[in-house]
Amino acid sequence: MKYKNLEQLFRQTASRLSFSSCPFLEARLLIQRAAAWNESEFFRQLDSPVRSILVRKLETMVRRRQSSWPVAYLLGRKEFWSLEFKVNRLVLIPRPETELVVEKVLSLPLADDCRLLDVGTGCGNLAVALAREKPRARVVASDISRRVLKLAEENASKNRVQNITFVHSDLLEYFIKRKQQFEVIVSNPPYVSESDWEKLDRPVRDFEPRRALVAGPTGLEIIARLVSQAGRCLRPGGFLVFEFGAGQEKEILRLFGPGWSRPEITRDYSGQPRVVTARKKTEAEAEGPD
Ligand SMILES: C[S@@+](CC[C@H](N)C(=O)[O-])C[C@H]1O[C@@H](n2cnc3c(N)ncnc32)[C@H](O)[C@@H]1O
Repeated sequence: MKYKNLEQLFRQTASRLSFSSCPFLEARLLIQRAAAWNESEFFRQLDSPVRSILVRKLETMVRRRQSSWPVAYLLGRKEFWSLEFKVNRLVLIPRPETELVVEKVLSLPLADDCRLLDVGTGCGNLAVALAREKPRARVVASDISRRVLKLAEENASKNRVQNITFVHSDLLEYFIKRKQQFEVIVSNPPYVSESDWEKLDRPVRDFEPRRALVAGPTGLEIIARLVSQAGRCLRPGGFLVFEFGAGQEKEILRLFGPGWSRPEITRDYSGQPRVVTARKKTEAEAEGPD
């Protein structure tokens, strides 16, 4: 089909995306992505004729969107903590509730030059946001996937962050072997059970990486390992802060033994318990009365 101008293509694209909650915004963002324009270029071009290469590129994206592809994968980016992250189907799309982990860490009594570890960094959103907020901190970002780590590294450069190193590790194995310790360990680990994964919304189940979401039959397998390993990789008095799923708080609290001060649960903006913060006791505290 021939279009009189970009505005006509824009309107027709929005009508094809009418199933979405914001069809005009999505139509504009997809056109901008297909044409490699920013917002002001898009508006400048509204009266201009449309190049066939743009129509072809956009067609692929609109068809994908119509078959439930998440917008972030089509755009190749997602905002987190007011920063922009490159994303692709190797990584989970950062969720707004994960910003609570950043908020929680920023509220802790930590030295400016603390050592901070982000376990299961994905696109690097937590590590990069924290490294930006704490430019003197020595941040380490780890993941079990080397390809994911490469993307996280790209996101650190994109956001001009230099105080992060990237380490390939199965949870904390690498750090335990080298006896490395941190003042704070953060994570948004996989916490979905195999049976709950089957019930997730189609765009999540069909497009986001299963390994980023599913922990095992109960959903708590990775978190249980993380808590037990963190006891060895935190300095005395150090903090473990991580996100978990709906209905998991009771089991999570049970994972913390006598070596930990009473963990604190933070609720998200919809009132769901979402983040746990636990402090490893110092030697004196561990020896003294509770
Ligand atoms: C829920 S995603 C979180 C990604 C990102 N931190 C965020 O908040 O959006 C979990 C991440 O943990 C990684 N992962 C899964 N199992 C792991 C393991 N055993 N050790 C280290 N990373 C793991 C996955 O590759 C994935 O990137």
